Amino acid sequence: MDPVSAEKPTILTGDRTTGPLHLGHYVGSLKSRVRLQETHRQFLLLADAQALTDNAHDTERVRRNVLEVALDYLAVGIDPEKTTICVQSGLPALAELTMLYLNFVTVARLERNPTIKDEIRARGFGRDIPAGFLCYPVSQAADITAFKATVVPVGEDQAPLIEQTNEIVRRINSQIGRNVLVEAEALIARVGRLPGIDGKAKMSKSQGNAILLSAKPEAIREAVHRMYTDPTHLRASDPGTVEGNVVFTYLDAFDENDADVAELKTRYRRGGLGDMAVKRRLEAILQGLLAPIRERRAVYACKPEYVFDVLRKGTKKARAITQSTLIELRSGLGLFRLD
Ligand code: TRP
Repeated sequence: MDPVSAEKPTILTGDRTTGPLHLGHYVGSLKSRVRLQETHRQFLLLADAQALTDNAHDTERVRRNVLEVALDYLAVGIDPEKTTICVQSGLPALAELTMLYLNFVTVARLERNPTIKDEIRARGFGRDIPAGFLCYPVSQAADITAFKATVVPVGEDQAPLIEQTNEIVRRINSQIGRNVLVEAEALIARVGRLPGIDGKAKMSKSQGNAILLSAKPEAIREAVHRMYTDPTHLRASDPGTVEGNVVFTYLDAFDENDADVAELKTRYRRGGLGDMAVKRRLEAILQGLLAPIRERRAVYACKPEYVFDVLRKGTKKARAITQSTLIELRSGLGLFRLD
């Protein structure tokens, strides 16, 4: 390890490879990862093994999206010289750590995890939850601790996972009698979650309310056109409501000219400003933001060999790091080393 990077705090974060990334990911995490790679030793995990915990029926989807998400990373400016991009299933130490950690967690604790509880409800799993899905917080704890990450940028909904990770860390360190593993701190995004274009709380490709980072100009135009506004604002001359109006929420997130946005809100509230005018402004901003991302993505998509090379190198580097944590842990727990 070079002396400079040794001083930088380590970040581990990642994405399940279940679909290409969208504007919600950009606002919530990608933008800050591009910044954090300058100040931190950053690892990005393409979590294909975790994606299988609720997509075992569609392995092709999980496989295909490893490349799609990698393209999204490169397109937004993740620089493989600064950030290590690695593939979870290519890191067998993570699977072994998960097995070991499972002995330090109870099923009751897993079922109490608020993230898991919400997801079980949202997906209607009930008791038929795949065991791998119930245990994914443990696998995520393995991801974080294997890299000895101290900073984990996550959305608010994932914060309980970091808490559970630190519980496992403390249990194992106390069992071993030495601080082999390090606790991590959740870095919660300050910006709120971007709603879907239909006004629903979460942007999601499967809900059909997302704008993909790879969206073509026509798709962007159509999405803005379909955006949920104020259903009672029928004529431009009517007074309108800004709160919960997706077009304004997006202007708050993407328009850098705060004074202009404030003035538009005043005019909209007063009456005399039509939806189309506001939408035209938002569309221009989104077209401007996404055009260079889409173009860079297309360039990398034509060079899959380069992208796989990035993944191969990143995974190789990550394999050495995660393997070394595993060796420390095995020896701490008193397992024989026979090689
Ligand atoms: N759970 C994350 C997601 O749903 C992906 C992920 C896997 C992750 N391992 C992680 C995030 C470790 C942060 C830290 O996209």
